[in-house]
Amino acid sequence: MGHYRSISVTSEIVGGKKKLKVHNPSDYPMVGIGAQGAVFRLSSDRCVKVYDDPRTAYWESKALKMAEGVPYFPKLYETGDQYVVMEYLTGPNLQDYLAEKPGLTESFAEQLLGIVKEMRRLKFARIDTRTGHIIVTEGGKLKVIDHSGAYRTVRRAPFMLFKSLERDGCLDDFLKHVAERDPKLYAKWRRKRIEGADLADVPHLPSPDKLLKKAT
Ligand SMILES: Nc1ncnc2c1ncn2[C@@H]1O[C@H](COP(=O)(O)OP(=O)(O)OP(=O)(O)O)[C@@H](O)[C@H]1O
Ligand SMILES: [Mg+2]
Repeated sequence: MGHYRSISVTSEIVGGKKKLKVHNPSDYPMVGIGAQGAVFRLSSDRCVKVYDDPRTAYWESKALKMAEGVPYFPKLYETGDQYVVMEYLTGPNLQDYLAEKPGLTESFAEQLLGIVKEMRRLKFARIDTRTGHIIVTEGGKLKVIDHSGAYRTVRRAPFMLFKSLERDGCLDDFLKHVAERDPKLYAKWRRKRIEGADLADVPHLPSPDKLLKKAT
């Protein structure tokens, strides 16, 4: 079996959109691909993400390094010029999970709030994720993948998370939880949504009164 370092990823523009081309002479199976990189499973608990652009590898490894020891993030094992070896996370993503089992549990709501707070503490520029990038691992523990934009994209409130939760039918469950547990943070998010330009597709956040009344 060839070494995973023999895997390479390049990009081309097809119809105005970036598309990745994978060259994989190894036997490691590809488990996912996005716009920035392709992911290959190396063992039961390790995978490698290979990027077309070394800068993306740098930024993803930086984010994972900063998050070292935080249980919501995959462990970082090795960084190369155009790859990052990280913990392979087993389980469905939260989007698929919620499609099967509708409704956000209290534990999930609390963990989502924990994830966002960790991103703030780590001083990520993008305090955001989406349910498709959250893996429900054993024991219902949530972990977030795809951090190549964490220090490159600026977003001070988790608008993409709101959008994905709205699509998954759970936005009010989450907002209610935050309004109860951290009313100051909820007020900040509301303010950011009201101030924000170019947020036409991001749901408006109800006043805490309305939210807490509506949900009970
Ligand atoms: N640590 C991991 N454990 C298990 N699966 C993973 C892991 N990291 C990535 N994947 C899988 O590979 C896919 C692509 O990874 P990722 O989202 O990080 O790539 P990306 O190119 O940065 O994505 P985007 O197009 O959203 O920018 C994921 O959707 C997921 O299915
Ligand atoms: Mg992705």
